[in-house]
Amino acid sequence: MTDIQTAIEFARQNRERFLDELKTFVSMPSVSTSDEHKADVARTAEWVAEQLRSLGMSRVAVMPTGGHPAVYGEWLGAGKKAPTVLIYGHYDVQPVDPLDLWKSDPFEGVLRGEYFFGRGVSDMKGQVLASMKAVESAMSAGKLPVNVKWLIEGEEEVGSKNLGPFIQKHSDLLKADVCLNPDAGMMSADLPTITYGLRGLCYLELRVYGPAKDLHSGLYGGTIHNPAQALTELVAGMHDKNGRITLPGFYDKVRKLTKQERAAFASLPVKDRELLKQTGVKALWGEPAFIPAERVGARPTLEVNGLLSGWTGKGSKTVLPAYAMAKISCRLVPDQTPEDVVRQMKAYLRKNAPKTVRWELDELTHSGWAITDLNSRGVQAMSRALETVWGKKTLFRREGGSIGVVVHLQQYAGVESVLTGFGLPDDDIHSPNERLHLPTWHKGIEALVHFIYNMKV
Ligand code: BES
Ligand code: MN
Repeated sequence: MTDIQTAIEFARQNRERFLDELKTFVSMPSVSTSDEHKADVARTAEWVAEQLRSLGMSRVAVMPTGGHPAVYGEWLGAGKKAPTVLIYGHYDVQPVDPLDLWKSDPFEGVLRGEYFFGRGVSDMKGQVLASMKAVESAMSAGKLPVNVKWLIEGEEEVGSKNLGPFIQKHSDLLKADVCLNPDAGMMSADLPTITYGLRGLCYLELRVYGPAKDLHSGLYGGTIHNPAQALTELVAGMHDKNGRITLPGFYDKVRKLTKQERAAFASLPVKDRELLKQTGVKALWGEPAFIPAERVGARPTLEVNGLLSGWTGKGSKTVLPAYAMAKISCRLVPDQTPEDVVRQMKAYLRKNAPKTVRWELDELTHSGWAITDLNSRGVQAMSRALETVWGKKTLFRREGGSIGVVVHLQQYAGVESVLTGFGLPDDDIHSPNERLHLPTWHKGIEALVHFIYNMKV
């Protein structure tokens, strides 16, 4: 047997153990956005470091950043002439609420049919573990043909804002020929996918203040501008009837799609029917001049992520609230920047906010858009690996999510990423009952094994 066959056989023999390990990983509530989980996040970083040590990695360290720690490890035994693959992952997860919609404990990891359920199973603890298990499988077969480095961070789900400076500071340590980033999913279980574009993000919090305190809505209603109303009027005005964003200058830097790009989007198997099924909506929405794949991959958006004001408990309370708040985020495309959007939002608010209220705006987090190099060795190695396992041509697409590290690595370390992953569009990432399709996960581990051998010079 060749090393690669031995490695694949090892992966197949150990599927059950791999899943047990995923269950342990998922049981740690590493929610990066809430202080409440800080200790859990730290404990998860330690667990990741322990996994890297047991893989035989050296220089394993839980390294401080300005926020949650990042985990590093390396194995450079393939020598200076062999390529070095930096494997990226994030061990943090999104919050679980609304908790009552989960059919099982989000931090238990429960098997139902072909799916494994739990927060982070798909995004992206399952993908991190898949990378570890692919390396373990290859190491079991003999000496690895490539050097590997690991960067597993704990702040991706809050925008990786401390990772840029971290990469800058440790750019020598993180030097690599390519970064494997399995955080970008695939188009469907039978469509092996490499993602070459991601949108950026600018996440804002808008607060509107009216009266000094909550008031009786009968005694004051009609004389005072309700901040909830003022806020929602402002928010409603941020789109026009055609779904275009009205912030002044918002589209100025948005690149026009070329004929070729539009043809590429049109050829992707994105079906309206599938989108309706995945989301449960009555009808799709968005700019009529663009098809859904373009609207997700190459057009910017403005979304309300949350609204808060007044009485939201059970029953009624006749109150005129003192305060209203909206969380608003924009997904950005080339060549927009988060700074532009903050400025444009402020200009919009200055122009449109009524004199009756006071407003405040904060930027909570941001992330740059990314386009990755499709001609890199890494992309070719991955494309062949996926085709070997799936027996189908690899699809190349631009996706609408954001992954901060991709730009940081380009900017501060000159490293290009290969974006792939084995999460599916209906995995319900960030939603209740997040799940991982196990047959796809197992194929993914095998594809990563092939990738490692394909990278060999
Ligand atoms: N893995 C996702 C992003 C993703 C999903 C990319 C599917 C491509 C396909 C990532 O973990 C994520 O959700 N990122 C956040 C980042 C944000 C907080 C800056 C996002 O996009 O909301
Ligand atoms: Mn995510």
